[in-house]
Amino acid sequence: MTGNKERFVMIFDTHAHYDDEAFDEDRDAVLSSLNEKGVGTVVNICASPDSLKRIRSLTAKYPFVYGAAGIHPDHAGELTEEMFQEISRLADEEKIVAIGEIGLDYYWDTAPHEVQRQWFLRQLDLAVEKDLPVVIHSREAAQETLEIMRAAYQQSGGTLRGVIHCFSGSAEIAKEYTDMGFYIGVGGVVTFKNGKKLKEVVETMPLDKLVIETDCPYLAPVPHRGKRNDSTLLTLVIEEIAALRGMTAEEVERLTEENARALYRL
Ligand code: NI
Repeated sequence: MTGNKERFVMIFDTHAHYDDEAFDEDRDAVLSSLNEKGVGTVVNICASPDSLKRIRSLTAKYPFVYGAAGIHPDHAGELTEEMFQEISRLADEEKIVAIGEIGLDYYWDTAPHEVQRQWFLRQLDLAVEKDLPVVIHSREAAQETLEIMRAAYQQSGGTLRGVIHCFSGSAEIAKEYTDMGFYIGVGGVVTFKNGKKLKEVVETMPLDKLVIETDCPYLAPVPHRGKRNDSTLLTLVIEEIAALRGMTAEEVERLTEENARALYRL
């Protein structure tokens, strides 16, 4: 590699859960080895009230790990005003780069829809107030999530920004989001045999809105499907995207890293 413009490109994992108990046995070994395996940056996303408490221990210990603070819709029923204030405080910290993950989950349906909606809206408002991107989770609620996002985007005067994580909608819905400037998070599902809809999204979406994510420990790409995922397996996601778009893996790695930096302003 020669020339001034060349630099060592590294993988940017925009969505991971290294505080998950699946990493209790070997968390430090996994995280400490990521850099030498080509992973340059990780954003660890809060999901539960417990992960809100743990997020600082990861961002303080590893220079390349950043955090997102927020409560997942599956835990919306546990959210309290005090917890919301804690999210707000975390949002002011330097290494907390987003609010998330937030949204609607009508698949697991662990909290009443009205409660999910209420905390989703509060956390969207908080992101606008703090000028941070949002990390959106939506399951079995594609249309309603889009409507809420569109209304919040308009209400914010176009300043609301963020990523639709583990995107599972159609190419048409992806276009609605990218037209508003949102990023689309693509992970292991793109390698699945039944991932046809997501492959179509990747084939047709604007490349400057594409970011990659593990959602680890979940959603490991083929041939590791069903096993514990980690950021090093993103090479398989990168290869699949490269094949779908007729690009080299290095081009996809560089592109998605740049997009992720723009998304999180890093
Ligand atoms: Ni997640």
